Amino acid sequence: MMRFTMSQDTPGSTATAANPTQQGDALENLLHENRKFAPSEDFAANAVVGAEVYAEADADRPAFWAKQARELLTWDKDFTQALDWSNPPFAKWFVGGEVNAAYNALDRHVENGLGDRVAIYFEGEPGDSRAYTYAELTEEVKKAANAFESLGVAKGDRVAVYLPMIPEAVITLLACARIGAVHSVVFGGFSADALRSRIEDAEAKLVVTADGTYRRGKPSALKPAVDEALSREGDGNGHTVQNVVVVKRNGQDVDWTEGRDHWWADTVGAASAEHTAVGHDSEHPLFILYTSGTTGKPKGILHTTGGYLTQTAYTHKAVFDLHPETDVYWCTADVGWVTGHSYVAYAPLINGATQVMYEGTPDSPHQGRWWEIVQKYKVSILYTAPTAIRTFMKWGRDIPDKYDLSSIRVLGSVGEPINPEAWMWYRDVIGNSGAKQSPAPIVDTWWQTETGAQMIAPLPGVTATKPGSAQVPLPGIAVDVVDENGASVPNGHGGFLVIREPWPAMLRGIWGDPERFKETYWSRFETMYFAGDGAKKDEDGDIWLLGRVDDVMNISGHRLSTTEIESALVSHPAVAEAAVVGAADETTGQAVVAFVILRGDAVDSGDEIVQDLRNHVGKEIGPIAKPKIILVVPELPKTRSGKIMRRLLKDVAEGREAGDATTLADNTVMAQIAASLKK
Ligand code: WTA
Repeated sequence: MMRFTMSQDTPGSTATAANPTQQGDALENLLHENRKFAPSEDFAANAVVGAEVYAEADADRPAFWAKQARELLTWDKDFTQALDWSNPPFAKWFVGGEVNAAYNALDRHVENGLGDRVAIYFEGEPGDSRAYTYAELTEEVKKAANAFESLGVAKGDRVAVYLPMIPEAVITLLACARIGAVHSVVFGGFSADALRSRIEDAEAKLVVTADGTYRRGKPSALKPAVDEALSREGDGNGHTVQNVVVVKRNGQDVDWTEGRDHWWADTVGAASAEHTAVGHDSEHPLFILYTSGTTGKPKGILHTTGGYLTQTAYTHKAVFDLHPETDVYWCTADVGWVTGHSYVAYAPLINGATQVMYEGTPDSPHQGRWWEIVQKYKVSILYTAPTAIRTFMKWGRDIPDKYDLSSIRVLGSVGEPINPEAWMWYRDVIGNSGAKQSPAPIVDTWWQTETGAQMIAPLPGVTATKPGSAQVPLPGIAVDVVDENGASVPNGHGGFLVIREPWPAMLRGIWGDPERFKETYWSRFETMYFAGDGAKKDEDGDIWLLGRVDDVMNISGHRLSTTEIESALVSHPAVAEAAVVGAADETTGQAVVAFVILRGDAVDSGDEIVQDLRNHVGKEIGPIAKPKIILVVPELPKTRSGKIMRRLLKDVAEGREAGDATTLADNTVMAQIAASLKK
């Protein structure tokens, strides 16, 4: 029996049925795309970096980065060596240097006379707004640093952060960085179970959360998930959390554990605004961020201080052509993802920029909300994800056309491949509003949680951009596309994306599991970092990203693992076996499609069991992981060694004739599945 349920709660998704043929065609078009848009003369003449940076970086990569580190950051103690790569794959950047991230993001700007510049324009979903100057933000961070210290948090301790997109999220991250505590942000869309496992893995001492936030005009709770996560016996030795700090955001009722829970206003609000930042070692851990890999267990990606700050700040300046005195920058990513770390919490503030932060969804209270915000703050640099652009395309250009978007001069894209149609729409509709001489350049930026900062992207004043391509490795970054044996492919060919040389913002490992770090990223091609993405070099040698080649899915730019969702499904008593694939989806890029075999004694209650399974996944991982479609099937296609052939299931999910099935242990399985779906 064929059944499916539309996901109503995937952020950024507005539930359209997948249209696989169209997606397939889009990939074909992409490989024949040959439009090219050179920067305008005016833009090129005023760009903060010019073409010379490539040669400079090629001449001496570590020296190039050392120069950026000294130019962009204020060091408490200068470093003695740019790169120590004597123990690969464990890199050390800016060896011997000492630097404080919060001082660099805040205090020094105030000391330099920029205290009155707005750091953050916050726009709440219900319409409340507040501006923080650099002086005010510095004061808040100092208070939070004192408050966290008074709750027993010391250098090296871990702090779990489960907050919505409100200024307190940035304040919390910078306060942790200031005192050398390691933050571990868990996206607010993850469940209590997911939160608990991350708190336990990192052995967090403090949790910072909020009563809740707003979603599409309604209050949406966060604190209950923290209470649940901390109330249960864990898989390990239980949790290590001593205190919970709670921001009052939406005013909803919360349960309270005396002694453990503290209102932000009472602790941070009452703390002293005097706090002196000291330098931390360049390799001191800055944060852990969990991300989905090819196995069931999320990996705690570890980033350290000096290299991370250098590369995020450099790329933010060069790729967005940042003029901090005049630009208003807006990155729409949630602080729960790496983009919200690197390009909301850190780089813009390190660079002294003015940024917009928005709490809610793009359609609340109406579908023009983003454009209203762009108009209100005169946003000049907008950084968002293709899934959002495709959603706006679907809503129609008459919505953005109602607003004055003429302030926009650079457009960024991140998180998933951007199809040429969406790229052109972004340029023509969002980037060409008002009386512009030429549309705003688009920078498609490829990078990962693991890379910490952008790795492949055009430079807007230099590169002639191509719709759908991230194109060129950034200066100082050595990216290549290789074949199965690790040999560089010639132009016009595809293969695996690799990184050949260490880079400053690279992950320093997986929290608590150095072996897994080597195994995951450095074993496919011994001396190169394997990103997990497929890519193609065009005739000019420009790089086109083609999506993941492993079991990682990309739903609305969010990373999810097939195995993780499969484990969640089989933990339901009615499920015997499950296989999950990412099927092409017009709006969200990919959508989660699950094939399940029910246990012999389970009752196939039709839609009811499907809904039950979706909710179960929502509870185990979070609403973002709920499958859009769940298909109950009699068998799964497996090889003789028992490996599920997801490729064949993907064919089914995308409505194609199933491909070569000759290696299946039982070659009637695909016919059985087809027959069961026709019923
Ligand atoms: C994908 C997000 C194509 C890619 C910053 C990568 C992209 C994964 C792009 C990392 C892009 C990110 N074009 N694909 N511009 N940017 N990806 O860790 O598959 O959430 O491996 O980091 O997103 O996702 P993550």
